[in-house]
Amino acid sequence: MSTDTRLLAVQILKDVLPTDGNGRSLREALASPQRAALNPAERGLLTDLCFGVCRHYRFLDHWLSRQLQKPLKASARPVQLALLCGLYELWFTERAQHAVVNAYPDLCRKLKAPWAAGLTNAVLRKATREDPAALAETLPPPLRYSLPDWLWQQWQQDWGDQAEALAAASLQQPPLTLRVNRRQLTRDAALESLTTAGLDAQPVAIAPFAITLQNPVPVQQLPGFGDGALSVQDAAAQLPAELIEVPANGRLLDACAAPGGKTGQLAERFPDATLVALDNDASRLRRVTDNLTRLGLAAQLIEGDASTPEPWWDGELFDAILLDAPCSATGILRRQPDVKWHRRPDDLTALVSLQARMLDALWPLIRPGGMLVYATCSLLDQENAAQISAFLTRHSDARDDTPPGTGSVPVSAGAQLFPPTPAGAGQHDGFYMARLRKN
Ligand SMILES: C[S@@+](CC[C@H](N)C(=O)[O-])C[C@H]1O[C@@H](n2cnc3c(N)ncnc32)[C@H](O)[C@@H]1O
Repeated sequence: MSTDTRLLAVQILKDVLPTDGNGRSLREALASPQRAALNPAERGLLTDLCFGVCRHYRFLDHWLSRQLQKPLKASARPVQLALLCGLYELWFTERAQHAVVNAYPDLCRKLKAPWAAGLTNAVLRKATREDPAALAETLPPPLRYSLPDWLWQQWQQDWGDQAEALAAASLQQPPLTLRVNRRQLTRDAALESLTTAGLDAQPVAIAPFAITLQNPVPVQQLPGFGDGALSVQDAAAQLPAELIEVPANGRLLDACAAPGGKTGQLAERFPDATLVALDNDASRLRRVTDNLTRLGLAAQLIEGDASTPEPWWDGELFDAILLDAPCSATGILRRQPDVKWHRRPDDLTALVSLQARMLDALWPLIRPGGMLVYATCSLLDQENAAQISAFLTRHSDARDDTPPGTGSVPVSAGAQLFPPTPAGAGQHDGFYMARLRKN
C-alpha cells in the first residue's frame, strides 16, 4: 500500500482531530477530491485508517503518550497522528506487521519530519510486542473503550451496569444495512438478487425491509441501487417510519428530513400521501432531492425551522409528523466515531432544549387522532424517554402510543433500542422512538 494514502490519512485526521477539539466531520473530510482520485484498495485503506483512529483514539493515544519521554509539540501533530495510524494498523488490522512498521518512518520523511523516523520505528516495533487486548483490560473504561469522560459518566448515570456493553458496542465495525424499496420488490427477492451477486446478505429481524451485508461493498455494486431498489439505512433507523400511520391520501410531515433517508422510506410506504419534507439546512435539503430522484419518488420540499412553523406552514393540519430530531448521535458512534471527539456536554443542553421546542411547536399542527413519531439516534435519556415524559406532562392531549415490545430496555416513555452487544453481532444502531397520539 502506498505511503501517500497514509499521508492523506494523516492530513484528513489533522482536520478531524485538531488539538483544539473543533474538528471537521470525518464524513465531510473523507469526501475530498484526493480520496476520489485513489484506487479502490487505497480508498479502502484511507477510510479504514481514518475511522480506526477516530474509533480507538483515546486508547491508542494513551499508550503512545506513555512511550514518549516528553509530549510531542503541537507542531508535531502530524507525526503523532501518523503514529496513531501505525498503532491502529498493528493492533486492529490483519496487515503484515513488518510492512506496517516499515511504512511509517518513510511517511515521517514525507511529512517533512525526518527527525521522527527513528522514533516512529522504535515505537511501532515496541507495539508489535504488546497485546492490545491485555493492555485494554488494565485501563479504566473511558480509556479502554475510547470515550470522553463525560459520555462514560452519563451512560453510567443513565444505564448503570449496562454502560459497559454500550461502550463495547460503540467500538464495533458496523455492517452495511440496506432498506428494500417495497414499491419495487420484496425483501426475499432482494435477498435472492444480492446472494446471486455473491454478497453475504441476511435479513434483520427487527425491521421488515432491512438486510445487512457483513462485508460492505460500494453501493454502485449493489444490484438495482441506481434504480432505487435499495437504500442504505440502519435497521433501527428504519423503525420510526414503520410506526407512522396515515389514512389514504393523508398529509404527512417529515420535520427534520435531510438527507432524506426517512423521507424516501415514507414515500415508499405512503405513495398516495401528501408528503412535506422540511429541513433548515438548504444544502442538506438538496440531498433529499437526490435521494428521492434515485427512488423515482417525490415530496414537497421546504426550507424552514421546525421549531417556528409560522413562516412555512400553510395552516392545514397533518395526519402524522415524523420528527427525527437533531441529537447527540451517541447511538451511532460505531458509524460516526469522530462524533465522540466533537460533542461537548454544553451541546447536549442546547440539543435537549431545541428538541423540546420542536416537539411543542409541531404538536398543534396535528389533527385530533393524529400522531407524532419522535426519533433520535441517541443513547442519552435526556434526549429520549426523559424528553418525551416531560412532553407528556406538558401536553394533556397527548398519550404514549408506542407499540409494546418496540424497545430493548424498559424506559419511562417510548422505546429505547440498545445496539446489540458484541455477542449480538452488531445488527443495528442505538436508537430511540416514541409514537405520540393526539386525543
Ligand atoms: C437526524 S438528522 C435527520 C436525518 C433524516 N431524517 C434522515 O433520515 O435522513 C436531523 C436533521 O435536522 C435538521 N435540523 C436541525 N435543526 C433544525 C431545525 N431547527 N428545523 C428543521 N430542521 C433542523 C438538520 O439539518 C438535519 O438534517
